[in-house]
Amino acid sequence: MTAGLLRRLTIATAAVAAYAAVASPAVRSADPAVPFADKDVHMGVATCAGSTCHGAVEAWPNSNILQNEYITWTRQDKHAKAYQVLLGQRSQRIAKNLGLEAAHKADICLDCHADNVPQARRHPTFQLSDGVGCEGCHGGAGRWIGTHISANATHQRNVENGLYPNANPVNRARLCLSCHFGDATRFVTHRIMGAGHPRMSFELDTFTAIQPAHHKVDADYRRRKGTWSGVQTWAVGQAMAISMMLDAMTDPKRGRDGAFPEFVFFDCYSCHRTMSGLKWAPRASVGLGPGIPRINDSNLLMVRIVLEHIDGGLAKTFAGNVLALHKASTEGHEAMIERARALRKTTDDLVRRFAQHTFGKDDVRALLNGVLAFGMSGEYVDYPGAEQAAMALSSIINALRDIGVIDKKQFDAMNAALEKCNATLDKDEEYKPQAFVQALSAFKATVPQF
Ligand code: HEC
Ligand code: HEC
Ligand code: HEC
Ligand code: HEC
Repeated sequence: MTAGLLRRLTIATAAVAAYAAVASPAVRSADPAVPFADKDVHMGVATCAGSTCHGAVEAWPNSNILQNEYITWTRQDKHAKAYQVLLGQRSQRIAKNLGLEAAHKADICLDCHADNVPQARRHPTFQLSDGVGCEGCHGGAGRWIGTHISANATHQRNVENGLYPNANPVNRARLCLSCHFGDATRFVTHRIMGAGHPRMSFELDTFTAIQPAHHKVDADYRRRKGTWSGVQTWAVGQAMAISMMLDAMTDPKRGRDGAFPEFVFFDCYSCHRTMSGLKWAPRASVGLGPGIPRINDSNLLMVRIVLEHIDGGLAKTFAGNVLALHKASTEGHEAMIERARALRKTTDDLVRRFAQHTFGKDDVRALLNGVLAFGMSGEYVDYPGAEQAAMALSSIINALRDIGVIDKKQFDAMNAALEKCNATLDKDEEYKPQAFVQALSAFKATVPQF
C-alpha cells in the first residue's frame, strides 16, 4: 500500500455507505469466471457513460442506483488511471529493468492495468486506454447491456447474462484479489517488484470504501442484492486472501524462483529494513527464531481472530497448522509446500463459514477485542500484521456506527485515534512496533462499553 493511503482511509470511512449487520445470501453463483476470463464481448466504458445511464453529474435522487458511477470512476477512482500509469516514468523504469519494450504494450502489465481481454472479445467501441473500466469489474456487457435496462431486469437475470456478481463478498474478494494479489494468469513476482513495482496489500472492506464505492447500500440495494455487513466482507476477504496466497505458493509456476522460494509470500520487511535499531522479537503465532524470513502471515492472523470467536476448537487446529507451515518454511521447499497444501484444504470451508455467519453486535465486539489483544500480546511486531490490524479497525468502527452502537461524536473520536495508529505506519521500512502498540492502547481507551 502506498504511504498516505491509510491516512486517506480515515476520510473514506466517514463517507462510506451504511451496511446492515445481518447476512442473507441472496445471490449465489458457483465461482463465476472473473471478467478477465469471461466469454463475453467487452463494449468499453463509453457505452456505460451516457448522461441518462451512468454518466450523470449528480446522483439521481429517485433512482435505484446513483447513475453518476462514471463520474466517480473518472474523477476519483485510480482504476481509471491504471493504463496511464503505464506511460509514466516509474513504469518506464520497471519495463527497462525487465527488458520489456514498453509497459503499455506488455501483457504482463496490461493484464492488471487495463481490461486486457483478447481481441475477439473487444467490441469496436472498446478502448484499452480506459484502464480498469466498468467491465473490468462488472464483466463483459455483450449479453446484458440491452437487457439490464429493461423494466423487468433483476440482478439475478443480469448475472445469468454475464454480469459479474460483485455484491457477494466471496466473488468480489476473488475479483479484487485477482489483481491486488494475483491469480494463476497474472502475478506480480518479486522480480517485478525488484524492478520497481510497488508492494501490494489489500483488505476488501477498506479498499471497497477508498476506491471509492460508487454504490449505496440502502434498503433498496439490500432488497435487490442481499445483505452483507462490512465486517463480514472484511472476514470473507481475509479468508479468500489466504486461499489465494496458498494457491500461489503451491503453484509450481509461481511458487519458487530458482534456488529460492518466491519472495512475495514473505514479509518484505523481514529482508528490507534498516540494520540499525534492531526490532526482532519473538512471536507466539510464528514460533521462529531471529534471522529467518517470515511468511507474510497478516491475513492468517486476521482469520484466526475470526475463528477464535466463532469456533474455538477450529481456531486451535488452525493456529497449529499455521505454526507448522512457518516451521516447514525453515526445513525445505517440499516441506513448506506440503504444509501449504494441507492448510489450503481447509480454507474454502473458512470462506464459506464466514459468508454464512451473521455478524451482529456481539461478533463485532469480539473481533474488536481480538484485534486489540493481538497488539498487546506482541503479534504486530511485523509491519503487514499491523497494517491489516489498522484496516480491520476501520471496518469495525464503521460497523459499530452502522449498528447504532456509537454516535457521531464517538465515531469521530475513534477515527481520530485510529488516524494516530495509521500515522505510525506511514514509513513502512522504519516501522516501530512499540509506537503502533502505544497508539493502539490510546485507541482502546476511546472504545465505549457496549
Ligand atoms: C497482478 C496484477 C498486476 C500486474 C501483473 C502489474 N501490476 Fe502494477 N499494480 C497493480 C496494483 C493492484 C497496483 C496498486 C497497488 C496499491 O496501490 O495497492 C499497481 C500499481 C502499480 C504502479 C504504481 C501506481 C501508482 O499510482 O503509484 C505502477 C507504476 C505499476 N503498477 C506498474 C506496473 C508495470 C510496469 C507492470 C508490468 C511490468 C505492472 N504494474 C504489472 C497490479 C498489477
Ligand atoms: C474496481 C472495480 C469496479 C470498477 C472499475 C467499476 N465498478 Fe461498479 N461496482 C463495483 C463494486 C464492488 C460494486 C458493489 C457491488 C455490487 O453492487 O455489484 C459496484 C456497483 C456498481 C453498481 C450498482 C449499484 C447498485 O446500487 O446496485 C453500478 C450501477 C456500477 N457499479 C456501475 C459501474 C460503472 C458504470 C463503472 C464504470 C464507469 C463501474 N461500475 C466500474 C466495482 C467496480
Ligand atoms: C483488472 C485488475 C484490477 C481489479 C479487478 C481491481 N483492481 Fe484495484 N487497482 C488495480 C490497479 C492496476 C491499481 C493501481 C492504479 C493506479 O495507481 O493508477 C488499483 C488501485 C486500487 C485502489 C487504489 C489504491 C491506492 O494505493 O490508492 C483501490 C482502493 C482499489 N484498487 C480497490 C479495488 C477493489 C475494491 C477491487 C474489487 C472490487 C479492485 N480494486 C479490483 C487493478 C485492479
Ligand atoms: C528473503 C528476502 C527478501 C524478501 C522477503 C523480499 N525481498 Fe526484495 N529483495 C531481496 C533481495 C536479495 C533483493 C536484491 C537486492 C539487489 O539487487 O542487490 C531485493 C530487491 C528488491 C527491490 C529492489 C531494490 C533496489 O535497490 O533496486 C525491491 C523494490 C524489493 N526487493 C521489494 C520487495 C517487496 C515489495 C517485498 C515483499 C513483497 C520483498 N522485496 C521481499 C530480498 C527480499
